[in-house]
Amino acid sequence: MLLKILSELKNESINLKSLKMPKIFFLIGFVIYFLILTLGIHKLSVSQINANNKILQQVPGGDKGIGPFQNVPLGAIDNARVKKGLTIFISKCMVCHELDKVKIGPPLREITKQRTPEFILNMIVNPVEMQKSNPEIKKQFIKYHNIPMTDLQISKEDAKNILDYLRSIAK
Ligand code: HEC
Repeated sequence: MLLKILSELKNESINLKSLKMPKIFFLIGFVIYFLILTLGIHKLSVSQINANNKILQQVPGGDKGIGPFQNVPLGAIDNARVKKGLTIFISKCMVCHELDKVKIGPPLREITKQRTPEFILNMIVNPVEMQKSNPEIKKQFIKYHNIPMTDLQISKEDAKNILDYLRSIAK
């Protein structure tokens, strides 16, 4: 498509050469502008694809973790849940987690982009088994100085509230 347009423009500019010079400059300018534009768009879409790939790579094999959550389709973020989730997060999770830097555990701002919803929910309600048997959490366990995340006896509903809070803070 692009080549066709370009060759048409080229032919036209040759015809015009004998007629009017300014028009040729205008055409050349247009061609350059067009090239920059298409290259720019191309670059943009490549970086978007890379960003998407990154997200896919960070969710290893769509790892759902170990626990009661095996299929949690996501709807829109629910504001009532976000508020409840925030309250629990402040009182129970912030002892060990910050959003943007390592505390005792990993930072959690981008966690909903790195893990499946099921993985996060299972980690919240079932951390002990996750530490024993989930390869990803085993790695984290070593990385975070062998201090384990404790089982805080969070209900399934509250885990979902926390999940919506975590979804709401991701950039
Ligand atoms: C006693 C400290 C502690 C508390 C309290 C705690 N965590 Fe953790 N968390 C950790 C550590 C340490 C890890 C790394 C894995 C491990 O060693 O268990 C972790 C891992 C996680 C992960 C997995 C991160 C990943 O990259 O996969 C999530 C999600 C998580 N915590 C969420 C929470 C939420 C939500 C709460 C509150 C309900 C909470 N944690 C409370 C210490 C804690």
